Amino acid sequence: MSNVLARNLLSLDGDWNVIVDPYEMGYVGILEQRNDRGFFRDHAPRHPGDRVEYDFDTAPTLTVPGDWNTQDERLHYYEGTIWYRRKVALTVDQVASGRVFLHVGAANHTSRVFLDGEELAVHAGGFSPYAVELTGRLNTEEHSLVIQVDNRRERDRIPAMRSDWWNFGGITRSVDLVFVPDTFLRHAWLTMAPDGRVIGGVEVDGSDDAVELRIPELGVDTVLTGGSSRHFKLDIDHEIERWHPGRPRLYDVEWTVGHDAVIDQVGFRTITTDGTRIVINGEVTFLRGISMHAEAISGGRRSHGPTDAAGLFDSAEALGVNFVRLAHYQHDEYMMREADRRGVLAWCELPVYWGIAFDQPHVLENAREQLDELITRDRSRASVIFWSVANETMPSPGRNAFLTDLATRARELDPTRLISAALLTLPTDAQDHHVDDPLGAVIDVIAVNQYLGWYYGEREKIATTRWSTPFDKPIVFTEMGAGAKAGHHGNDEQIWTEEFQAAVYAVHTQMVNANRSDLDNGVVAGMSPWILKDFRAPVRVLPGIQDGYNRKGLVSEEGERKLAFDVLHSFYDGVASQVI
Ligand code: GCU
Repeated sequence: MSNVLARNLLSLDGDWNVIVDPYEMGYVGILEQRNDRGFFRDHAPRHPGDRVEYDFDTAPTLTVPGDWNTQDERLHYYEGTIWYRRKVALTVDQVASGRVFLHVGAANHTSRVFLDGEELAVHAGGFSPYAVELTGRLNTEEHSLVIQVDNRRERDRIPAMRSDWWNFGGITRSVDLVFVPDTFLRHAWLTMAPDGRVIGGVEVDGSDDAVELRIPELGVDTVLTGGSSRHFKLDIDHEIERWHPGRPRLYDVEWTVGHDAVIDQVGFRTITTDGTRIVINGEVTFLRGISMHAEAISGGRRSHGPTDAAGLFDSAEALGVNFVRLAHYQHDEYMMREADRRGVLAWCELPVYWGIAFDQPHVLENAREQLDELITRDRSRASVIFWSVANETMPSPGRNAFLTDLATRARELDPTRLISAALLTLPTDAQDHHVDDPLGAVIDVIAVNQYLGWYYGEREKIATTRWSTPFDKPIVFTEMGAGAKAGHHGNDEQIWTEEFQAAVYAVHTQMVNANRSDLDNGVVAGMSPWILKDFRAPVRVLPGIQDGYNRKGLVSEEGERKLAFDVLHSFYDGVASQVI
């Protein structure tokens, strides 16, 4: 279900009663079978002798949206199941309004939905939205809505056992009831293809009625027929003012089918490659980027909502970026809307990260589901130019087949954007790096994570390091960087000092400049250094320096800028001033 933010919603955000259930006894009984008197029944004692060993009404609460780790220090490291419950009742008008869906913005990692004790759905994937139809099940009585969430790391989940980010659990984005007519637009999307034509698709739920599409400023008022799920191309006579990084132009797009009407704001731009160059609206463009986790600019918690999105973009834009890498999973929809409005290009990514069970068919099935949810929510967003299917996965026949399947599927869902994956650079002292990961033949842009001057490589050699690939495709450094504790100073050979980090950035910007494809015959078309801000990571445990934070941020977890921030900012200012 897309365009949810523009729909008739009843927010279910706020305090939900919760039960922490580390042994999942609220779902599985002593004989390892489903426990029919489990917490999802939301029982209350019916008489003084009634043995009910839980009670949501008097249970503690957690706020939705929000990770549980930072709401209660006892849950700081918690990995397991927590049950959320709230009561829901509709008004007479809402009951009569047509169909109603529960929409969950994200719940990490796997969640089950129960209404009045009945299990309705299960969703695997901690960063993508899902909807469950509740039509006919809700009236003006009080109903029990229970969502079981578990953030356990499992070998056959995506992501799997290890990640360099905090495993924030919980209902981490908003939950709403969505009211729609009997026939409504489950999906409606519009974007510009590389050839400059506007293309789109609709998926009508409830009938195969014709869909009316209007873009008043472009003189578009067309009726789309041809079945409930259809793709289309538009011939638009009007001059379309292109959406462009730094010059965001959005048009109101009105979708109507029957009594369903949705207005979206859409920008139109072309994104292509030309050999090792990235070309946007025909302009060769160097991606001045930064990577980000979905962690609020201060407070060390999972980010959500428009205020967090604005805070993260304010900080990124202060660097002079035209590009953000939203790592390593699907970010909040508010981030995509903010990128569209601000004219900042975006990399969107699946959490197919490090050690994935590439040999398990059900794992590929879930990867496809998460990919569908990633693309179907955001393929109208002009800011999105990359769909990334992985981060730092070791080449193998199984991994190559798995990622090739995802890349193929991504192109089927959206033939207009660049497909990539962040590739691993193994430790090396070489001065010439030839990136020949076989996946390079499949993806459109060779994204490279490299840590010269931090994990490996002599700093003195970095500025003169050359990069090449056997593929005539752009390289983007999706990660590079070094750690520093804000306020920790010394000479630039002292690790963890701001001076050390700044010195690494200085030589990397020299290296990038010498390899740029927008200036001459280089291969590097952009970069998104790791990372905007320090972020929580369980493996980063150096006392007094890391204390549970990855310190590669250019900004501390409380918003203090480090010296390297200015190094990158001045480099980007220089790049931006070079009108090619
Ligand atoms: C890896 C990985 C990141 C990690 C970073 C680091 O490249 O992609 O998720 O945080 O390196 O080592 O800090």
